[in-house]
Amino acid sequence: MTIEFLNEKVIPIQANQTILQASLEAGIPHYHACGGKARCSTCRVVVQEGKDNLSEPNKAELKLRDQKKFPKNVRLACQTKVISNDVKIQRIIRDETDLDLYVYGNHCENLQSVGDEKPMALFFLDIRNFTPFIEQHLPFDVIHIIRRLNIMFNDIIVEHKGKILEFTGDGFYAVFGFDEPIKEAVNNAYKAGKQILDSLIGLNENYITKYFDHKIDVGIGLHSGKVIVGKTGVKEHNPYMVMGLPVNVAARLESATKELNNNFVISEYVYEMLNGRSNSAEQKQIKLKGVSEPFCVRLMGKGYNY
Ligand code: FES
Repeated sequence: MTIEFLNEKVIPIQANQTILQASLEAGIPHYHACGGKARCSTCRVVVQEGKDNLSEPNKAELKLRDQKKFPKNVRLACQTKVISNDVKIQRIIRDETDLDLYVYGNHCENLQSVGDEKPMALFFLDIRNFTPFIEQHLPFDVIHIIRRLNIMFNDIIVEHKGKILEFTGDGFYAVFGFDEPIKEAVNNAYKAGKQILDSLIGLNENYITKYFDHKIDVGIGLHSGKVIVGKTGVKEHNPYMVMGLPVNVAARLESATKELNNNFVISEYVYEMLNGRSNSAEQKQIKLKGVSEPFCVRLMGKGYNY
């Protein structure tokens, strides 16, 4: 049986050895501050392939996992054995900075989840035509309106099990699918977009146009795909990071709302996952940066009246 330590080396392991024993024997400088007693967690590894070829977590490992809130793909090398075939793993703590980051430092409570790749729904919203409002109104009014909008956006996103990762001043970026299957996440994201557009009509009529003689329009882009999810670990900031090409595509769909004159643009891929779709939504093709093939989208909103 072998263990591949990704980006390091492949080593042999005997049935009666723990991963830690095998790695130390092979000369890997594997951290093990408590001496292999399941107390320090410095020996932890991420399992990339072959999790079923490992021994089940014992009592000591489960206790530490509960305390530190590790995800299931993180194992203690000092307690885990390989029971059949081969496995691929990665050490998490490789130097003193990693040790500070993950075990002893100020940021470690934000880093119990390791990077993961999963399908998610990616939602970008931009407030249109806001510069004239900023120029014509008092700073208090500008911040007041942005606050009202952001509270409304956030309430709707959260109601649909999404999470806003970043507010950009005149827009935001949200993701759906942390805990639910992707089809459900996509449908939730779509419903959230529709609800935001509907709610804006009421807010414009009853408040923003009435008191500020202005109408807020937005552009929404929605796409879905496999992305890398992890935590930044910087305490004061939003801990989640979601990265990958689908994120860039979703941002591009949001900016395409202008050229397509439609306030809600979704990818064909998302459209195909929608429950109860009628197939009547207008289909268009747009160009994506660096991609030669045209990209198929559906127009699910309304045109702008300016
Ligand atoms: S070496 Fe301390 S928990 Fe494994």
